[in-house]
Amino acid sequence: VEAELDFIRRFPARGVFKVVVDAATERLVGFQVLEPFASYTAAFDHVATLGTYVDLERRREGIATRLFAATFAAAREKGYEKVFTFVRADNQAALRTYLARGFTVIGTARDHARVDGRYVDEILIETRLTES
Ligand SMILES: CC(C)(COP(=O)(O)OP(=O)(O)OC[C@H]1O[C@@H](n2cnc3c(N)ncnc32)[C@H](O)[C@@H]1OP(=O)(O)O)[C@@H](O)C(=O)NCCC(=O)NCCS
Repeated sequence: VEAELDFIRRFPARGVFKVVVDAATERLVGFQVLEPFASYTAAFDHVATLGTYVDLERRREGIATRLFAATFAAAREKGYEKVFTFVRADNQAALRTYLARGFTVIGTARDHARVDGRYVDEILIETRLTES
């Protein structure tokens, strides 16, 4: 909880943080976080990176789909033109979700994640928010 609070407190002003709340239970069932790709140069100001999480009990109900719509609309308003992110090669659910939302695969970073002492590739993906 402390780590999450710290993340929220430090969240960048140009970031977009959308949540889905179940109206009946008032429980948070999903969130999506879009942040500037980098801050060390203005050259990347039009590029965002993205993370998505949906409650294990509430998957395949279209919650991520709703998050993408809200996040992308807000991102365009903040001046972003593209989203660049990556998913673990063994995370087919996430890859399929992003590809269904218009992302395309642009490469593979080999042995990029190390999980429990085992290396896993990361699939690099991107999508445009505006006409190029
Ligand atoms: C990836 C994730 C966010 C998808 O959330 P979701 O709310 O279940 O997604 P949706 O219901 O909006 O699904 C949209 C589409 O994505 C695809 N999809 C989603 N989950 C899928 C799965 N397990 N297998 C195949 N396709 C899948 C389908 O095309 C789906 O449309 P459909 O259900 O009409 O076939 C969710 O599985 C999750 O939180 N995973 C753990 C965290 C994670 O890996 N995040 C991504 C990396 S940051």
